[in-house]
Amino acid sequence: MGRTLVLTGPTRGLGLATARALLRREPDATLILAGRDMDALARLTRRLGRGRPRARLVPVAVDLQSATSVRQCAAAVRAAAPDGIDALVLSAGLQFTQDGLTGEGGVDLTFANNHLGHFLLANLLAGDVVTDGRILFVSSGTHDPAQKTGIPAPLMREARHAAFPATLGRRDPPGVAARRAYSTSKLCNVLCAYELDRRIQLCGRPGPSVLAFDPGLMPGTGLARTYPPLLRALWSLVLPNILPLLRAMLGPNVNSAAVSGDNLARLAVDPSVHGWTGVYVSGRAAIRSSEVSYDRNLQADLWALSADLTGLGVTEAEFAWKAVSPGPPVRHGPEPEAFTTLRLQA
Ligand SMILES: NC(=O)c1ccc[n+]([C@@H]2O[C@H](COP(=O)([O-])OP(=O)(O)OC[C@H]3O[C@@H](n4cnc5c(N)ncnc54)[C@H](OP(=O)(O)O)[C@@H]3O)[C@@H](O)[C@H]2O)c1
Repeated sequence: MGRTLVLTGPTRGLGLATARALLRREPDATLILAGRDMDALARLTRRLGRGRPRARLVPVAVDLQSATSVRQCAAAVRAAAPDGIDALVLSAGLQFTQDGLTGEGGVDLTFANNHLGHFLLANLLAGDVVTDGRILFVSSGTHDPAQKTGIPAPLMREARHAAFPATLGRRDPPGVAARRAYSTSKLCNVLCAYELDRRIQLCGRPGPSVLAFDPGLMPGTGLARTYPPLLRALWSLVLPNILPLLRAMLGPNVNSAAVSGDNLARLAVDPSVHGWTGVYVSGRAAIRSSEVSYDRNLQADLWALSADLTGLGVTEAEFAWKAVSPGPPVRHGPEPEAFTTLRLQA
């Protein structure tokens, strides 16, 4: 019997490439495709199903901006995966260009879309992921101010700064706030991965591993869809054709969606990844994430606020409520040597 894999954001970009790579690696898989556009999902399952008679493709509706929708999605996934989930791949995400957008409860819409939805989904399903399974949060190099990405660095000393940016008490110039909300939401993905990993480990019994992944810059995906037309054209038509030049200018982690999708699929199913947990993988190598991402107080603060905002119940999430004492505000992570062996083979 094939493995059971769950993927969010499969209709475009990285998610689409990951779906293809997963099926190449696991032709017998049950692949549960969670997206918000059911017509697009139906077209996708037909397309992916062609020539793959052994794969079982299950479209499931989810709008990550809605806690109700995420709960319905978790129930549907559970029904389709009675024997458990081998990998939960949380790839969906977007970038807004309009400042000040808010979602349910007045929460920043980018934070809700890119962090809260996956926080809730991961918590609802973590208990269904098999003990040697994997939970993967897709983050981005933009979460790290030390990396030159062209996106304003995250601003988040407390969790509420990400959820309600007005609490920062400072206002960004027009056009900056929305892009900063993106990098901040990607920092939340890393903080959330580390905190979930710790809570699973504190349960004292084997549990799935949890990783954060930076796919690298992937021009041509749908991420720039709200950009002005000229920038959109540059992103979609020009940049995908000059990847070597972009690498020379920006560093090695510039990829086509196909390459990043293959890297993400390997993290999900490749046996060589067994034992990696609580780490941040950039492209094919585990590296240190930003300094602030290791701040355990911030991780715990984000966890508590996210549980509150999503109404996460004590009985609905197996690992969420493990009592965790954050301890003093330490900022550390694995030593660099720990990473040297964590590299996907070419
Ligand atoms: N592109 C890059 O350079 C880059 C770099 C680093 C990290 N990333 C990360 O990679 C991931 C994928 O991005 P991408 O570049 O592949 O973008 P993309 O082509 O726009 O794909 C995003 C996917 O997420 C889905 N999605 C967005 N909001 C959703 C919601 N509320 N509910 C359900 N599904 C939702 C989209 O569905 P719809 O089609 O229905 O909108 C789409 O399938 C994101 O997490 C992004 O932050 C991208």
